[in-house]
Amino acid sequence: MARWPKPAEGSWTKHFDLDTAPISYEDSTSPEFYELERDAIFKKAWLNVGRVEQLPRKGSYFTKEIQVTNNSIIIVRSGEGDSEVRAFHNVCRHRGNKLVWDDNPRDETAGNCRQFTCKYHAWRYNLDGSLNYVQQEGEFFDLDKKDFGLAPVHCEVWAGFIFINLAEEPEQSLVDFLGPMVTNLEGYPFDKLTERYYYRAEVGANWKLYMDAFAEFYHAPILHAGQTTKAFASAAAEAGFEAPHYQVDGPHRLVSTAGVVASGMPPEMRRPMEDATRSGLFGPWDKPEIEWVDPPGLNPAKCDPWGLDSFQIFPHMVLLVWGGGWYLTYHYWPTAHNKHIFEANVYFVPPKNARERIAHEMAAVTFKEYGLQDANTLEATQISLESQAVKTFALNDQEVLVRHLHKVVADKVEEYVQQSRVKVDAP
Ligand code: FES
Ligand SMILES: [Fe+2]
Repeated sequence: MARWPKPAEGSWTKHFDLDTAPISYEDSTSPEFYELERDAIFKKAWLNVGRVEQLPRKGSYFTKEIQVTNNSIIIVRSGEGDSEVRAFHNVCRHRGNKLVWDDNPRDETAGNCRQFTCKYHAWRYNLDGSLNYVQQEGEFFDLDKKDFGLAPVHCEVWAGFIFINLAEEPEQSLVDFLGPMVTNLEGYPFDKLTERYYYRAEVGANWKLYMDAFAEFYHAPILHAGQTTKAFASAAAEAGFEAPHYQVDGPHRLVSTAGVVASGMPPEMRRPMEDATRSGLFGPWDKPEIEWVDPPGLNPAKCDPWGLDSFQIFPHMVLLVWGGGWYLTYHYWPTAHNKHIFEANVYFVPPKNARERIAHEMAAVTFKEYGLQDANTLEATQISLESQAVKTFALNDQEVLVRHLHKVVADKVEEYVQQSRVKVDAP
């Protein structure tokens, strides 16, 4: 008998009105499909590019290279408050030089400045994007500086997460786009979890394949077995994985998992390093001592015991909130049909002492190791999918969110193709 009840329809897959037939991964191997995703998805959706803590004071900025849309974006704080977080195309209005970069024009950068000065002919821009200085201005012809500010990009902040939208006019506000499943997390103390560990990797797999690896935990007891003691790995493999709760809201997804109290496990289930650091597989064992307000969107089904909520925010972000009082984000930035850049950020309440710091470091390196195990496997998956030797693949009910992502992507691309056709056909 199942440990967690299934919905009345008998399965999560049917509950969300999804098909149960095997699926094709042509959407992850086709260069043509990737070309469509650029416009149909990445130029239309709100994309999280970072957090407000990355812009601590007026003049703080960072750049974001978004290869899938061919853009470089400057995100800058021009004053206090979320409305002063702005985004601009990183393109000088004089002759198009990239405005902000350091040694290599393709690398992202960050810093603090009073204004942006172009390296080519020294045009200068204020933090609000307006052009304030043109060298030898008298040589130009009727140039009105007001007409040559940086090209703005739609930028909104929710709960400290900075999102941009590359559409001329976004179809929805950020809050409407995120929908209640995500925005009901408002009130979680993201602003107090400011100790950040970051890493990135270029992965030789389609971006959706890595999203899939965080949309299901069916693989966890198997693929990540080597990361635990033999006793833990065999118990986990025997138990298998079952989520107490899945949810979808528009293009976004959620899986909640049951909790494990690491300190309460028998000693043979734990590694000596975990005992020494009081941290590891499930993060730090001790919840930080701050006032916790659990917003309604956290553990929405009130699973007990509860371990974590993994929110998959369309198209390319995972926000994973742990019961132990920490969270992480993953981003998958496509660079080709069979490559993407994976970024991971792990956030904690800043440590009060060395022991807490070590517990955080232990959690961060543990998650990096997980990520590398997933990434390595996904390169193998990409290679084998590209052989086209097998066309369809089975998905079980614990992989329901995998099915949902591929369906949402297919629907968005289809809708875009239909709209473009209407435009072409229109007189
Ligand atoms: S291209 Fe920037 S000042 Fe000329
Ligand atoms: Fe994994």
